[in-house]
Amino acid sequence: MASDLKALRDLIVGSIDNIIAVCEETGKDFPKLNEPVQFSEFTPDGIRNHPKVSDNIAVAVAAAFQLIQTIQSPPVTLTTSAFRHTLPISLGIVERANVAEILRKAGSQGLHVKDIAAQNNIDPKKLARVLRFLATNHWFTEVAPDVFANNLLSSLLDTGKEITPDFREIKHKDSPGLAAIAGYGADEVICALTAWPDVLFDPKVGFSEELNETGLQKALNINNNQWEYYDTPEGRYRSDRFNVAMSGASKLHPPQAVLIGFDWASVPKNGLVVDVGGSRGHVSLEIAKAFPELNFAVEDRPIVIEEAKKYWAENLQSHVDAGKVHFIGCDFFESQPKLPAIPDVFLLRTIIHDWSDKYSVKILSNLRSAAGPNTKLLLIDSIINYACEAESESSLLGKASEPKVPAPLLPNLGGANLLAYEVDIVLGSCLNSGERTIDGYKAIIEAAGWKLVEVRKNPASKIWWPALICVPA
Ligand SMILES: C[S@@+](CC[C@H](N)C(=O)[O-])C[C@H]1O[C@@H](n2cnc3c(N)ncnc32)[C@H](O)[C@@H]1O
Repeated sequence: MASDLKALRDLIVGSIDNIIAVCEETGKDFPKLNEPVQFSEFTPDGIRNHPKVSDNIAVAVAAAFQLIQTIQSPPVTLTTSAFRHTLPISLGIVERANVAEILRKAGSQGLHVKDIAAQNNIDPKKLARVLRFLATNHWFTEVAPDVFANNLLSSLLDTGKEITPDFREIKHKDSPGLAAIAGYGADEVICALTAWPDVLFDPKVGFSEELNETGLQKALNINNNQWEYYDTPEGRYRSDRFNVAMSGASKLHPPQAVLIGFDWASVPKNGLVVDVGGSRGHVSLEIAKAFPELNFAVEDRPIVIEEAKKYWAENLQSHVDAGKVHFIGCDFFESQPKLPAIPDVFLLRTIIHDWSDKYSVKILSNLRSAAGPNTKLLLIDSIINYACEAESESSLLGKASEPKVPAPLLPNLGGANLLAYEVDIVLGSCLNSGERTIDGYKAIIEAAGWKLVEVRKNPASKIWWPALICVPA
């Protein structure tokens, strides 16, 4: 009787007990939902990053999510799922109204919605409905009728800045980037997703791999692809916000994570690491700090490379002065530019998930042509796990030697891993690209003349940003 319910209950109780035990052992409290976030939480010392805690969080979230889907009335689940876009839209409204910044000074006592709305010249009754809906989703707390305060989640929307008359223009610049994610999600992402079904069912473009035949073009009525659009004056605001949002996303998975994704000590002294599409080179800079004897080439579009030069000058001038970092403006669809040596490692973090198979194979083939016999290719991108058992995952992802995900949870841990699957759909709707299964990676890696030899998991997640290590085939 009710065996699934019992199993899910036991998984929740067991994993929460394990988390409490770590809190007791380490003397660390678990952050409370009703208190604003402490950014120290996102450092390796944060309780959620303790390996025992992160594993147990995954089981607890997967089990709790599966329990809700099991016990809640199915028509209610269907309807709340169909209306789920109410959440990002509401987050976008409060982000645009700077509610988290307004509530910062009010502290735990909160502020009446009339005082929040007055600072935005919007209808307080409508804003109250949005805030109450969010508080019901555990974003903000309604501390008394119509009085709202920040909590753990809503405080993430606080850029930490003072509101100025030109705040909309400067709000996200140099901010932690989390409010920018909310703004991006409520704007071009939701526009592209809304238009995507019409694109998918259009026989002319439904099978396209082109970047400029996606939901984004249909929604914004443009012909440019996302990157070209971001370079136009009309796209400037969204572009700046997107860049800040991306750095916000990477703060949650710090650049240092790359240090355990590969055996950097095995690279010969003075070896060369090429950070392909490296943006400001923030990932390779972390490697350089830990392995100062290595040389680096940061490659990106010329306009971005200027930013990389500034970033290294501000953060690791000694490497620049020693001539151990080269900044190369280039296009990864062309042959590799002349490099100071045969590369030991080509590092591509979150690059090929931006490109459909056709383009990813081009990028990887160009790297293959510039590789020496000992060059390694290191891809860091999420691996989408099947929602069922799969032979290829047992062998290639080493799942066979790992503890089995306990029944009745999905083998991919369902609700605990939704983020990677959501990013996959967003990428599909905006760029005709996406995350890949291990079989999907293998296909493009082999088509470009490489061979996958190892997958190293990111200890913080079973799916998010592992390292795929490849050698010339
Ligand atoms: C998602 S970002 C990844 C940045 C960095 N690797 C990281 O992990 O944070 C993708 C990068 O690819 C660069 N890029 C896009 N098209 C490119 C091209 N044709 N040639 C070189 N770089 C390109 C972008 O400018 C951007 O910096």
